[in-house]
Amino acid sequence: MEKKLNHLLADLVVEYHKLQSFHWYLKGYHFFDDHAKLEEYYDAIAEAVDTVAEDMLMLGFKPESTMKGFLSISSIEEAKNQEVTSVEAYEAVLADFKYLLDEVKGVKAAADESGDYLTSTKMDDYIEFFSKAIWMVGQEVR
Ligand SMILES: [Fe+2]
Repeated sequence: MEKKLNHLLADLVVEYHKLQSFHWYLKGYHFFDDHAKLEEYYDAIAEAVDTVAEDMLMLGFKPESTMKGFLSISSIEEAKNQEVTSVEAYEAVLADFKYLLDEVKGVKAAADESGDYLTSTKMDDYIEFFSKAIWMVGQEVR
């Protein structure tokens, strides 16, 4: 579980920075709406980062806390320091959120198997968050 939770933590940290990069480097039509929406998403992810790390501590695990460590563990590709259109940003967000939804479902399944109900229950929040966000972002880019 410790390894799975650190992988999730690292993916969430990298996704947080990626969303903030898109928030900063966004250009074009819909800027005002999408700039705000991306901030809403990275705020939600920041909350999840803190919750996952603190739940790990409650369980006696050691959460990763260095940028170097997060980057070495994460499977999410970082954003580049370059301008993006809303569609480019949302297509990347959609792919990442689909990956993260699969990941939190996997963490829940593993948690259930080992009787770790704290983690299992928490994953329900993220399954709901990513499922809803995937539907909404999917509507935006179609
Ligand atoms: Fe901002």
